[in-house]
Amino acid sequence: MSASEAVTDALRELHGRFAGVRDGQRATYIPELAGSDPDDFGLALVSMDGHSYSAGAADTPFTLQSVSKPFAYALALASLGLDEVGRWVGAEPSGEAFNAISLEPDTGRPANAMINAGAIVTTALIPDSREAPAFQRILTCLSRFAGRKLDVDEAVYASEAATGDRNRALAYLIRSTGTLPVDPVAAVDTYFRQCAVRVNALDLAVMAATLAHGGVNPVTGERVVSPEVAAQVLAVMATCGMYNGSGDWLLRVGLPAKSGVSGGLIAAGPARFGLAAYSPPLDATGTSVRGRAALGELSERLELHLMRNPALPGSTVTLVTTADVLPSAPSGRRERALHERVGVVAAQGALDFTAAERVLYALDESGPERNGAVVLDLREVTGADSLALALLHSGLSRLARDGRRAAVVDPGDRLGPPDLVRERTGQDLPRFASREEAVEHVAQAMAGPG
Ligand code: DON
Repeated sequence: MSASEAVTDALRELHGRFAGVRDGQRATYIPELAGSDPDDFGLALVSMDGHSYSAGAADTPFTLQSVSKPFAYALALASLGLDEVGRWVGAEPSGEAFNAISLEPDTGRPANAMINAGAIVTTALIPDSREAPAFQRILTCLSRFAGRKLDVDEAVYASEAATGDRNRALAYLIRSTGTLPVDPVAAVDTYFRQCAVRVNALDLAVMAATLAHGGVNPVTGERVVSPEVAAQVLAVMATCGMYNGSGDWLLRVGLPAKSGVSGGLIAAGPARFGLAAYSPPLDATGTSVRGRAALGELSERLELHLMRNPALPGSTVTLVTTADVLPSAPSGRRERALHERVGVVAAQGALDFTAAERVLYALDESGPERNGAVVLDLREVTGADSLALALLHSGLSRLARDGRRAAVVDPGDRLGPPDLVRERTGQDLPRFASREEAVEHVAQAMAGPG
């Protein structure tokens, strides 16, 4: 037993809650899927550090089906770019079923890459390369997302190939409007193979976590796609991933997600978790009934809804005061009066633009008078991204222009190398290892010589 087993316990508890649900029907239009076990139910969660947790049938194999679509879309985007892919397939929710004829009236362009029509086009767009034919490239890409070598369930592939006339009809219809750049039969065959790639719930959670982690697989550490492509895929999953249930899912669960008719379901909490479920009985939109219930509940419990703001105000700035109230304040009247004019702000954690704005606001609050001074204590800051740095540098240069002296407590050089700070702020910003030294320095400087 270990502490992190508590995460597994939470998944087990959810699993127990929904295992008894008997609603939904297995997909039968692909005959081989009708043979899946309706009682199979697996849940998995993978963190941004690559920690994996699971409950139930998390290593039971099944085929990706439509869960393959966002990953093939990622490969197409990575190969061709958004503009080129966007010429052939749109990014609008269709509001219709996954197998509907959702084609733009004028151009015949499929509404989005998550419905069958758009996914067939997406797959058709992926070119053979010198190293590998298109399907091999897709399989390699899916494997990198999963962090292990995946293979094709030949029985499921053959079963769909033998019965998939609706998809073939869709492909011919799309080509008749001029928006399918290749042979419809070949495009659909590659698409069927991609749908028949075999995974388990844990693989799916790793794949979702890779998208949530900006395109880097958090288990293997491999960069699979760029942060831009990962964000583009998540955006289309958020608006279109659940077909005609996408709006309601985004409203209630609030996560980019993708369902598949074999019973797989993924959801991605950006920068937080990859989630996955497997359970074959489906609702009317083609989504796993238990999967929907469990991932919906998980999102609520972990507060993953995208529209909820996780950054609590006040968590960046830990102190806004003046130096005269610090324990180190001198007792003499004259020194005390000087210390009253020294604002002190301390910050903590990782600074992004939002956090940097809080720090600058706190600097203003700490003593807005001209000719005063301020000490910015960054000892508890763990890092600052380039946007935060640019904003801090420009805020500090404004302070100098307004005649307010500044010093930083920054033994870890969180503000960047002194040369850069000089260039950006237009001053030699004094840096100290302790708050007391910094306060003393600016107080002395204000007192002037003598
Ligand atoms: O093209 C099909 O019909 C299947 N290979 C995949 C459809 C699917 O998974 C829809 N998702 N819920």
